[in-house]
Amino acid sequence: MKLLSILAAAALSFLSVSASAIPMHTLRKGGDDPVFENDFADPSIFQDEDGTWYAFGTAGNDKQVQVATGDSLYGKWSLLENIDALPQSAAWTTGRHTWAPDVRQASNGKYVMYYSGEVAEDSAHHCIGAAVADFITGPYIPEDEPFACNLSAGGSIDASGFQDVDGKQYVLYKVDGNSVGHGGSCSNTKNPIVPTPIMLQEVGDDGVTKVGQPIEIFNRSDEDGPLVEAPSLLRTDNGLYILFFSSGCYLEPSYNVNYATSTSLTGPFQRAQRPIIKSGEYTLRAPGGATAVHVGDKVGIAFHADCQQGRCMHTSHAVVDGREVRVVM
Ligand SMILES: *[C@@H]1O[C@H](CO)[C@@H](O)[C@H](O)[C@H]1NC(C)=O
Ligand SMILES: *[C@@H]1O[C@H](CO)[C@@H](O)[C@H](O)[C@H]1NC(C)=O
Repeated sequence: MKLLSILAAAALSFLSVSASAIPMHTLRKGGDDPVFENDFADPSIFQDEDGTWYAFGTAGNDKQVQVATGDSLYGKWSLLENIDALPQSAAWTTGRHTWAPDVRQASNGKYVMYYSGEVAEDSAHHCIGAAVADFITGPYIPEDEPFACNLSAGGSIDASGFQDVDGKQYVLYKVDGNSVGHGGSCSNTKNPIVPTPIMLQEVGDDGVTKVGQPIEIFNRSDEDGPLVEAPSLLRTDNGLYILFFSSGCYLEPSYNVNYATSTSLTGPFQRAQRPIIKSGEYTLRAPGGATAVHVGDKVGIAFHADCQQGRCMHTSHAVVDGREVRVVM
């Protein structure tokens, strides 16, 4: 009798702990193995209403925009081998080397993809395009005109969406200054170093129509090496804006998942003291291109790192402690 009640009490306390914590088997160790073994760089992630996770990745495996799916962020994922989410290309692009897609559901209910398209009139550069679909996996139909394309500044890449607490929607992107750089690592460690600022552009309900002018919210600094890129923005319930970005060069171990924080959407953003994920940690090489999303009271991050197939997708959990963001071990 006594033993039984002790067992019952132990079972109850075990249940109450495990109900509030995340089951251990879903807690990945900050990116030990990729979630699937295919080349799938610069992932963005999205959880649809039915709970299914989708990831969108840079061109590869004969698709311009690859799609993968998983039942949970930290479980196993698989590539949707028969789907190219962007089967048609806009006339301003070459329709090849499409990079860093980001998918959101706009306030009007449509799915919007921001992508980096190779510019037809000057294939040394990419610009941001937008494409719209009725279903999460597409087909995404590209808008006729690029969303952001200042070729004299180097074009623009790595767009991602953000919705603020007041409902307003924004698109972040990087001015691809290193594509007009003067040499060195990622073409931009020789003077004069070309700026690669992160821009913030407000958009309307459709996620596509621009509202006002873009503003510059973050700059490369010397510790970043050639560039900052791959912006992804989150706001915590405490009102802290966390701007995830990559610095270094994606071809080299210097690439990383880095971040800066601000109490205001438009900055100033204060750099973190150290990147959240860098080469040599968790057996990763050249991690970067991250997208961060809310997962319950934590942050879920998808990023890529070098693998045998090219660049493979990893996921991780992170927690925010004051202004510090840490991968959960
Ligand atoms: C385009 O980039 C150039 C070079 O950085 C800059 O001088 C110019 O103001 C930019 N134009 C627009 C419309 O942003
Ligand atoms: C970025 O640097 C330029 C000059 O190099 C400066 O004019 C601009 O204000 C800076 N932007 C931010 C957001 O710090």
